[in-house]
Amino acid sequence: MSELEEQISKRLTFAIISHPDAGKTTITEKLLLFGGAIHAAGAVKSNKSNRGTVSDFMKMEQERGISISTSVMGFDYRNRRVNLLDTPGHADFSEDTYRTLTAVDSALMVIDSVKGVEERTKKLCEICAMRDTPIITFLNKLDREGKEPIELLDEVEQELKISVCPMSWPVGQGRGFKGVYSIYENKLVFFDPNGVQTDNSIEVSDIYDKKLDELVGSEAKKLRDNIELINEIYPKFNKEEFLKGKITPLFFGSAINNFGIKELLDCFVDIAPPPTVRESDIRDVHANEEKFSGVIFKIHANLDPNHRDRIAFLRICSGVFEKNKQYQLVRTGKTYKSANPTAFMAQDRSIIDKAYPGDIVGLHDTGTLKIGDTLTTGEKFNFVGIPSFAPQIFRSVINTDPLKDKQFKKGLDQLGEEGVVQTFTKMSTKQKLVGVVGALQLEVIKARMEDEYKASCKFEPVDFTTACWIDSEDKESLNKFIAYYDSKMAIDTRGQYIFLAQSKWMLDRILEEHPKIKFYFTSDLK
Ligand code: G4P
Repeated sequence: MSELEEQISKRLTFAIISHPDAGKTTITEKLLLFGGAIHAAGAVKSNKSNRGTVSDFMKMEQERGISISTSVMGFDYRNRRVNLLDTPGHADFSEDTYRTLTAVDSALMVIDSVKGVEERTKKLCEICAMRDTPIITFLNKLDREGKEPIELLDEVEQELKISVCPMSWPVGQGRGFKGVYSIYENKLVFFDPNGVQTDNSIEVSDIYDKKLDELVGSEAKKLRDNIELINEIYPKFNKEEFLKGKITPLFFGSAINNFGIKELLDCFVDIAPPPTVRESDIRDVHANEEKFSGVIFKIHANLDPNHRDRIAFLRICSGVFEKNKQYQLVRTGKTYKSANPTAFMAQDRSIIDKAYPGDIVGLHDTGTLKIGDTLTTGEKFNFVGIPSFAPQIFRSVINTDPLKDKQFKKGLDQLGEEGVVQTFTKMSTKQKLVGVVGALQLEVIKARMEDEYKASCKFEPVDFTTACWIDSEDKESLNKFIAYYDSKMAIDTRGQYIFLAQSKWMLDRILEEHPKIKFYFTSDLK
């Protein structure tokens, strides 16, 4: 195995997907503790804004700006280099999460066993399904009176359209929670409500082992019945199917009590895929190719007005990335070199000399890089699959200080490049429009325009509520469509056509009437 292949086989790059409050922050912290990346609980700050106000969000972002290392948390565990990518806690910024999911090779899904499958988990799981990302699942909060385990499995299968493969099974639940039986390792792990995970597990030969009766009493029969039942209903763990994103191995536990997390992590490092292949617009790019390539999936502006630099997050896709080496920025054809690429290990940032596929490197940027940009050693291809999502809220944006027109345009452009907002221009009126996923984003834009660009703006309502990108192989039909719906057409920053509709109902009707036009609800940034 070459040095490159050895490094690749160690990499495990993943993100946690969950609905707010399911336990993402708690699990992140426990994983970092096991990885030796932190030494005390309380080091990981929740990135959710509880009150959902702008000042709250800005403050939180500012804090995160200072310790930007929380965006990627790297640590070594057993024989793997783990890169855990953080995602925003607030649903209004979900697009940022979607983009981060394109930079991972697998995901850990956390579900609250009291609440079951929730809305946000559903959406994030759909995004993973678009790229067949393998998912491992943790059913959390077993120390609380939650739904029946079998019911939860049904819910996961039905709501998330993914087959489940239980790797452990709870013994009791809520106040009567005694521990889990590990189907994966044939052992019983006892729950200690004090949260100290000592090695309190006992090996058994199988579920018929007499020891079980001594250990858990009357629960033993129920456990046997349940395991027999799940053996009948659910398939045995099959790694191939997991790697294709078709089945999800599933664990039970309680993150706050540090219970079940180690078993989860041990299994995850065994089965999670290293970087393999990534799709570009002209060919598949394999991680073990000698030549470096990578993609920018996120840009983070430092909100400190004294430091106007930004950090672009580069995911290494193939070959070795090196400090001070000249690469090509495919979009512009210009050369690109970084003198201080930053790696994120635990809570530190450090300048690195080399990075391998699966690694995330922070590049200091003053406006050269855009989300979706591909860097190569000279070959001209662009990675696909960093989509923009059709926004759900639209406004017309108006500059309220005519003397600051330049600042207004620059601010809007840069926030667009950072992915905070999508900007469009209406074809008929040249009106500037903004589209966002959540209302809080609009307020953040206004505040950031004032703070960082000294520009002021206001938003006005528009008469459409839904939008999608359009295209067609039949250029004549496309031109006719655009001419006919002139007043409903806009252009995005990449020159792609967007159709604006008053309602979903109207859009569905128009969609049916124009079979030659293709309507897209996500757009790959090119
Ligand atoms: P999030 O990042 O997914 O939003 O969730 P977070 O980890 O912040 O957890 C949300 C709440 O659930 C927290 O309580 C946390 O302590 C609790 N929690 C996490 N895991 C478990 C578990 O296994 N069992 C139980 N019973 N609770 C759990 P909080 O009251 O919102 O915050 P805090 O004051 O405890 O920090």
